[in-house]
Amino acid sequence: MADTTHSSLEEELAQLQEIATFDPPQEFAAKARVTTHEQPADPVAFWAEQARELEWIREPTRALDDSNPPFFTWFADGTLNASANCLDRHVAAGRGDRVAFHWHGEEGESREITYAWLLEQTQRAANALKALGVRKGDVVGIYLPMIPEVVVAMLACARIGAPHNVVFGGFSAESVRERMEFSEAKLLITADGARRKGKAAAVKATVDEVMPDLPCLVVRHVDNGAPMASKDAWWEEALQQAEAECPPEELDAEHPLFILYTSGSTAKPKGILHTTGGFLTQVGWTHKNVFDLRPDEDVYWCSADVGWVTGHSYIVYGPLLNGCTSVMYEGAPDYPHKGIWWELCARYGVTIFYTAPTAIRACIKWGADLVAEHDLSKLRLLGSVGEPINPKAWLWYWKVVGGGRCPIVDTWWQTETGAIMITTLPGAQHAKPGSAGTPLPGIDAAVLDDAGSEVEHGTQGLLALRKPWPSMLRTLYKEQERFVETYFSKWDDRTYLVGDASRRDADDGYFWVIGRIDDVINVSGHRMSTAEIESAIVSHPKVAEAAVIGQADEDTGQAIAAFVTLEGDLEGTGDLETEIREHVAQRIGKLARPKRMIWADDLPKTRSGKIMRRLLRDIAEGRALGDVTTLRDPTVMAQLEDKIKEAQAET
Ligand code: WTA
Repeated sequence: MADTTHSSLEEELAQLQEIATFDPPQEFAAKARVTTHEQPADPVAFWAEQARELEWIREPTRALDDSNPPFFTWFADGTLNASANCLDRHVAAGRGDRVAFHWHGEEGESREITYAWLLEQTQRAANALKALGVRKGDVVGIYLPMIPEVVVAMLACARIGAPHNVVFGGFSAESVRERMEFSEAKLLITADGARRKGKAAAVKATVDEVMPDLPCLVVRHVDNGAPMASKDAWWEEALQQAEAECPPEELDAEHPLFILYTSGSTAKPKGILHTTGGFLTQVGWTHKNVFDLRPDEDVYWCSADVGWVTGHSYIVYGPLLNGCTSVMYEGAPDYPHKGIWWELCARYGVTIFYTAPTAIRACIKWGADLVAEHDLSKLRLLGSVGEPINPKAWLWYWKVVGGGRCPIVDTWWQTETGAIMITTLPGAQHAKPGSAGTPLPGIDAAVLDDAGSEVEHGTQGLLALRKPWPSMLRTLYKEQERFVETYFSKWDDRTYLVGDASRRDADDGYFWVIGRIDDVINVSGHRMSTAEIESAIVSHPKVAEAAVIGQADEDTGQAIAAFVTLEGDLEGTGDLETEIREHVAQRIGKLARPKRMIWADDLPKTRSGKIMRRLLRDIAEGRALGDVTTLRDPTVMAQLEDKIKEAQAET
């Protein structure tokens, strides 16, 4: 295609930069599900109306109960079952043969997963869990690669009212152990191994090393002769032996659906607890309306991993609630080749594609030609999530992937919010590259100052949510006080502190989400706690102290930089750096390995001993140093600056 040659593409993108707002393309708007964006006068009534989309066993008689803030409940006297809403009702309506997932394996295998198959497998898996002693209310861990069984496992838990606790496959067994212990999981559903870029890594064996006693239900995926003990069972056999029918458990709307651990300001991950009725209501509504879904026609693909909240809400629950057909890909975006995503989009006729800015930036590096080789003419809507999308990446996505005809929805939300909160309704609102947009109907977001007053448009402040929403987290699992303290103590017990800095535009009130205000960093759209990484580094026997910061990075948004002080008079060497990085991979996962390590004789600390990360960020990014007078030893900064200059001179 002529227009993707480098010079002309660059010229075109440069011209596009002049455009501040992109109206919904006419053809798109003409057929869009929603064509006006309005805030309902009564948000609670609005959500009550949306809840009617679900199939309730007992209809709720009231929506929000806010009598005990910040512990809000939604639809509390209603009963339902999430798996029945995702599966049974579609099968009952004659859509059993519809493909729920076109699953594509790393080595090119494909499986067509229908709603009927999912229902059959889910019922068997639910019975298998019961046979293994899992009861309503028991937590079940899930640590699986991107295979259809992960969906079955989640829905089987939901069917019997056992909250699932999914751990992203990229986390180490040690991280899984921690999350299983915190949540007192009864059982772990895992696999013998996982495939990654042509290699197979043992999973069950590594799980055994750190959790020798936890019973496991094991999916045979790579057939590597995984060790099995009498406490363990093979998934396939257990499902075969199980009864085929398992009626869905009637559960209260506020019954816990899942726990998902995410990073916070301290080393201990936070167990975000989501319940059933409110979560499904908002996830179902947003999936349908933000993505302008036409379930009978669309082929939807969210490229996230199920191990993150994006996977929970927009690979599993949202798409299945709405009975749509999705693509699920097991592999990495560059395996077996860097054009695989676009090959799959063409092959399955993907119409809606949802990914993260970091992936788009990687694709920009790999070149527009890899996209142009494939027929993406069926695409009609693009989505972005996980971190701010820089305008350059936005424009490239719009032009190269979307061919200039697909609206982009930049969706802002969090593990805690459960569902999309700020974005643009694609047939109703203009998009602005880099700005997420406005709060969705029923959502009250604002930018506040420390005292809780709204700042003027154009001024940076703290992003806050001022009214409860159905899919909000209900608490931090087993840490009620931390829940109140983290989210509802900044202003009052009804105003949720997001943890992001934001500003709004004067003309249209659009929100720009700037980044985190706490010690959480965002690497490739993955949320990481600096404290958790520091604690992993410090647990290495040769390390005395460490401070971790997020450093701006062209590819990954932020990158992890670690300042490390060694024990005694040990010298920092390349080998030791490798050793420490490996140690972090073992403790947390490869994604937490520092990109840069800087050996420091000492770290900048206040007189009370608090590490001043702000100063470390300043020197790492080459900025003029801020105020150093509060430091216990101001000379530390000069030494560190010299080190950084030396390191930069070497590269
Ligand atoms: C960031 C992911 C800007 C933000 C769904 C938030 C974003 C954190 C966007 C949540 C976006 C997510 N624009 N920033 N569209 N989406 N973020 O819990 O800092 O993994 O607080 O949920 O990611 O990350 P989490």
